Parts: sequence; structure tokens; C-alpha cells
Amino acid sequence: MGLPKTIAIDGTAGSGKSTLGSLLAEALGYLYLDTGVMYRAVTLAVIKAGLSLDDESAIGELARKVRIDVRPPSIDDGRDVDVLLDDEDVTWEIRQDDVNAWVSPVSTQRAVRDAMTEQQRRIAQENNVVMVGRDIGTVVIPDADLKIYLDASLEVRAHRRYQEMLERGETPDFNAVLASLKNRDKIDSNREIAPLKPAEDAYIIDSDNLNICQVFETAKALIYRM
Ligand code: DC
Repeated sequence: MGLPKTIAIDGTAGSGKSTLGSLLAEALGYLYLDTGVMYRAVTLAVIKAGLSLDDESAIGELARKVRIDVRPPSIDDGRDVDVLLDDEDVTWEIRQDDVNAWVSPVSTQRAVRDAMTEQQRRIAQENNVVMVGRDIGTVVIPDADLKIYLDASLEVRAHRRYQEMLERGETPDFNAVLASLKNRDKIDSNREIAPLKPAEDAYIIDSDNLNICQVFETAKALIYRM
């Protein structure tokens, strides 16, 4: 068997899936797509447009209309990728608190998911790709050659997020970080459409007691054993 051409990585917020995905994509020379940034960019567009969360038809229309580009990083400021919303660089703006608070409820809406899923499937068809998200192995590319589900306990994930924010020069409140992750887990896992859950044929990696190098080695062992 050759190397897997499509790799789906799903998992909870802060589980380390984006870091794993970008390392694997770099090692394999594949395209890396963190689909969370697409949902974040749509959410930012919703906030900028001043739409209400209840206005599903306007949000759906916006999701179909906005142009989201995810490209290799053009600036060396700690970013993995450039995220452009209608040609504007929003790479850091999509990480702000207002987007964190709205992204899960916006992502529950069918029209938003349909618009994002369509783009993601096209990208998976056209490229060797490592795609990261919540529903990649279950809904977006259920025939992915390799599926990984990454998880860790809420406390460990909150500590990692808190540390990342400190390193970026922010002044986070640990309890607020923990509460925000908990709330997003709840919405992401319980939504009706494409809820967060491992695909039946996913390899589950629990990273509570593994550092990123060990997670990377575990994933590489799966890839090269295929
Ligand atoms: O991975 P992240 O924390 O950047 O994702 C932000 C939100 O986007 C997440 O809380 C739910 C949504 N999301 C989704 O619904 N489906 C995906 N495939 C990726 C993200």
C-alpha cells in the first residue's frame, strides 16, 4: 500500500490537531487545510455585517457569498497560514474573543455547513491533503485514506490554550479559557448536523500524556504502516 493521499484529522478544540496537521502536511509535502479557520472567517463576516445569530437566511447567503482564501504564510509572526476574507488579511482577527464566542453557534447552521463542506470536498478532490476539523472523517471526506481523532482532557487543553495566548503576549484568564472550550465542546458535540465524533474507522490518539513530538511520531507510524 502507498501513502494515504487524504488524511482527515478531527478532534476537540485545543487538542493539538492543527499543530499535528501542519507538521504532517509539511513532512509529506501535502496541502494543509484547517477547516476551523473557514468557519471562523464566516463568523467574522457575520459579526462585521452586524447580523443576528437568529437570522439564518442572511447568514446562509453571506456564507455562500464570501470569499475565503487560506494560503501559505506571507508574514513571519507565528502564523501557520494566511487567512483572507474577501482579500483582507484576517489571520489574527479570527482568533479574537467575539469570534470564539460566536463560531460554534454559527457552525451549527445548515447553510453555513453546506457552503463550507462543498468547498472542502473540492479541495480534497484536487489535492493530496491533510484536512483538520470536526467532521472531516465523518462527513466531508468519509472515504479519507487515513482518519485520526485527537483528544485530550478539558483541563490539559485549557492549559495549552492559555500557554499559547501568554506566548502571543496576551493576558488570558485561565477560567475564561476553560469555560470557552467547554462551551464550544458542548455545542460542537451536540449539534444536529455533522456533530463532533470519531468516525468508526478513525484511529483515536489521546494526547493527555503525549507531547506534540510523540503525537507526531504516533501519527507517522500509522501513515508509514499503511
Ligand atoms: O478548530 P477551531 O477551534 O478553530 O474551530 C472553530 C469552530 O469551527 C469549532 O468550534 C466548530 C467549527 N468547526 C466545525 O464546525 N467544523 C469543522 N470541520 C471545523 C470547525
